[in-house]
Amino acid sequence: MNSNATPLPPVIAIDGPSASGKGTVAALVARELGFHYLDSGAIYRVTAHAAQQAGVALDDEPELARLAHRIEPRFDGVEIYLDGAAVGDVVRTEEAGRAASRIAALPALRAALLERQRALRQPPGLVTDGRDMGSVVFPDATLKIFLTATAEERAQRRYKQLIEKGFDASLAALLQDLRERDARDAARSAAPLRQTADAALLDTTNLTIQQAVAQVLRWYRETTATL
Ligand code: DC
Repeated sequence: MNSNATPLPPVIAIDGPSASGKGTVAALVARELGFHYLDSGAIYRVTAHAAQQAGVALDDEPELARLAHRIEPRFDGVEIYLDGAAVGDVVRTEEAGRAASRIAALPALRAALLERQRALRQPPGLVTDGRDMGSVVFPDATLKIFLTATAEERAQRRYKQLIEKGFDASLAALLQDLRERDARDAARSAAPLRQTADAALLDTTNLTIQQAVAQVLRWYRETTATL
């Protein structure tokens, strides 16, 4: 793996269910530490979007894997570029999340995206969020966190986010959607969403974003102090 014995850059892996706020927390922790940030869900979202544009069915596993190798997504802050063109907010809708969750259940597609994600582990370090960052993509992460909140709280947060962005939203539909997506992400056999034994649980139901960020930074400093 690391044949020349140079230490690999540190990784903070934050996994958790949809709309738990892990992306916001991860991005702020990355900014605080001056680390790179990888929103792995965006990779699945942009791949599903590319498939829909190319007319590839969301259950055509071999073709999706080929497409995943072929496309060149680029992430710059919150903007995502696909083969050079800005994708915009279409990949942030609930529909795009559902499409991402569907293709994410396919092992060949996940395998095709693995190296792309690992390549983003660059100095001085990486903060990343997703479903399998600590369990599969970066099993040797310096710090692993399972960040969650109740489904009701997550639906409320997503509702606020969508309304602020000018999208139409229904709280009841969002709650049902989140529950379905959680169930699919947790029940799949390939890299299911789960808290690994070595991940710290961070329940943000009653925490502000700043409190959650502060807790992650505290854990990271404690972990690195003992290395
Ligand atoms: O985090 P998100 O809501 O943007 O992710 C969209 C979907 O992508 C999610 O429902 C499951 C999938 N996903 C995954 O399977 N593994 C990851 N590491 C990140 C996302």
